[in-house]
Amino acid sequence: MKIISDIEEMIELARQWRAAGESVGLVPTMGYLHAGHLSLIRQARADTGHVVVSIFVNPTQFGPNEDFLRYPRDLDEDKALCEQAGVDVVFTPRAAEMYPENYDIYVEAADLSRRLCGRSRPGHFRGVCTVVLKLWHIVQPHHAYFGQKDAQQFLILERMARDLNIAGLVLHQMPIIREADGLALSSRNVYLSAEERRQAPVLRRALLAAERLYAAGERQAAALLDAMRQELAQADLAMVDYLEIVDTVYLKPVAEIKGQALVALAVYFGRTRLIDNILLGEK
Ligand code: PAF
Repeated sequence: MKIISDIEEMIELARQWRAAGESVGLVPTMGYLHAGHLSLIRQARADTGHVVVSIFVNPTQFGPNEDFLRYPRDLDEDKALCEQAGVDVVFTPRAAEMYPENYDIYVEAADLSRRLCGRSRPGHFRGVCTVVLKLWHIVQPHHAYFGQKDAQQFLILERMARDLNIAGLVLHQMPIIREADGLALSSRNVYLSAEERRQAPVLRRALLAAERLYAAGERQAAALLDAMRQELAQADLAMVDYLEIVDTVYLKPVAEIKGQALVALAVYFGRTRLIDNILLGEK
């Protein structure tokens, strides 16, 4: 397994792979890898000839009062996990090379980025789109892998690929991986105190309450959201940021579920913000 930090070196290697007609899979991450990331890597390994895992805690996707500085990092452990998983290259670009002095160009989703997480994290998706587009240019993948926990991120990146005419790249959204008690895996789970961690699976229970009602035939979003609120009220440390049922194209709230809908929520436990979601219905 190679570790590459130099952007030009990564571009050159990707160019050689492409020239030889070999396929490239990219798993973009911010490191502190967990079983969710490993499921993406496994899929990339199965689909492609060369797997690149990028590890970069991207400063531009964090707000001024967010957790950029304390975001968990363990590069040695990440490298060991990548090695075991059969990764070909761990790409760890340096921030000063990704964003050199006078860096001035950003990519923005005009409408989608203002919805759901975008309301409490202004600028977040601008940072995500910018860094992901840069990674696509550097690694030149045929396939790129993301987790469904960040469903809004995936939708925005799909739209970016379409709207900016990124050719020959297939995006894959992989299922959420959960702890045994239902909590979605996230690098940020380490921030939780013991009591917050005990209460955190309430996000999953709220989603399952909505799913049960939907399965019983309820299609009114208000009824599903009520059931979710009742469930969330059981956890006294849970502070809801948002709770929404939206369509899967514009991410606009729906009153009645017809076709496919995304049920998404963000909940604070202290300073830690957790997100989770579930899809209901067919496209
Ligand atoms: O989902 C993430 O971990 C990040 O948003 C990503 C896609 C690696 C961009 O920094």
